[in-house]
Amino acid sequence: MRQQYRGTSAFSCFVCLLILCVTKQSVKTQVAFDAVCPDVNVVQNFDAQKYSGVWFEIESYPGMIDEFDICVSLNYTMQTDGNLQVSSSWFNTSSKVHESIQGSVRLINPSLGAKLLVTFPTSPVSQSMSTDGNFWLLETDYVNYSIVFLCLPVGSNISFQYLSYLSRERFPFAAGLNFIHQRMESLGLDRTFLKPNDQINCPFN
Ligand SMILES: *[C@@H]1O[C@H](CO)[C@@H](O)[C@H](O)[C@H]1NC(C)=O
Ligand SMILES: *[C@@H]1O[C@H](CO)[C@@H](O)[C@H](O)[C@H]1NC(C)=O
Ligand SMILES: *[C@@H]1O[C@H](CO)[C@@H](O)[C@H](O)[C@H]1NC(C)=O
Ligand SMILES: *[C@@H]1O[C@H](CO)[C@@H](O)[C@H](O)[C@H]1NC(C)=O
Repeated sequence: MRQQYRGTSAFSCFVCLLILCVTKQSVKTQVAFDAVCPDVNVVQNFDAQKYSGVWFEIESYPGMIDEFDICVSLNYTMQTDGNLQVSSSWFNTSSKVHESIQGSVRLINPSLGAKLLVTFPTSPVSQSMSTDGNFWLLETDYVNYSIVFLCLPVGSNISFQYLSYLSRERFPFAAGLNFIHQRMESLGLDRTFLKPNDQINCPFN
């Protein structure tokens, strides 16, 4: 295997901030690799209108999935200025409360493709996020799936990485999951550390 999992805890706050801004404010762990960031391409000519609507988080690296969070979904809405607003929601199995947070989404630079910066009012944005974004859309067909990735280099040969599969369906077909895993592999991404997000035991919908 090209990349190696390093561990989970005791990361710098800088990294926490970077990762936590992607879907919500709470993070316990991230995935660190003994590797430099892979060379990835993001979606070009990103169509915010087509991307708007609801996405369910089917799988992601730990760190995005708080130990108490299940039923994570993202609802994107077009704004009059052409940017997206996002409402991220989840069920907290500890507090038994359906929680959500509103954020805004913008393209870092249209010429860079779908490198998006997602900001929440309560989370500061670091320098590297404001120049490189914190939500890289690697692939989407807009109607079924999207593959989201983020890589932050730390040190000479270490990087923090985040990978997620979002679906328009809360329960995508098993065949769809196989397809996504194949796509991730052909993009050179490591799906070993993906964890399913529980979309079954949702006390709503
Ligand atoms: C960087 O990591 C790769 C992959 O684990 C390894 O092959 C390489 O030797 C490492 N380089 C350094 C300078 O540690
Ligand atoms: C998504 O957000 C829009 C705008 O706030 C709202 O009208 C719509 O009902 C939301 N959809 C879902 C499924 O929550
Ligand atoms: C879930 O609720 C617990 C309290 O029961 C709280 O400590 C934790 O921060 C909450 N998680 C999120 C993501 O809000
Ligand atoms: C993608 O979604 C469209 C519209 O919902 C559907 O017709 C098509 O079969 C889906 N394709 C895949 C590969 O899931």
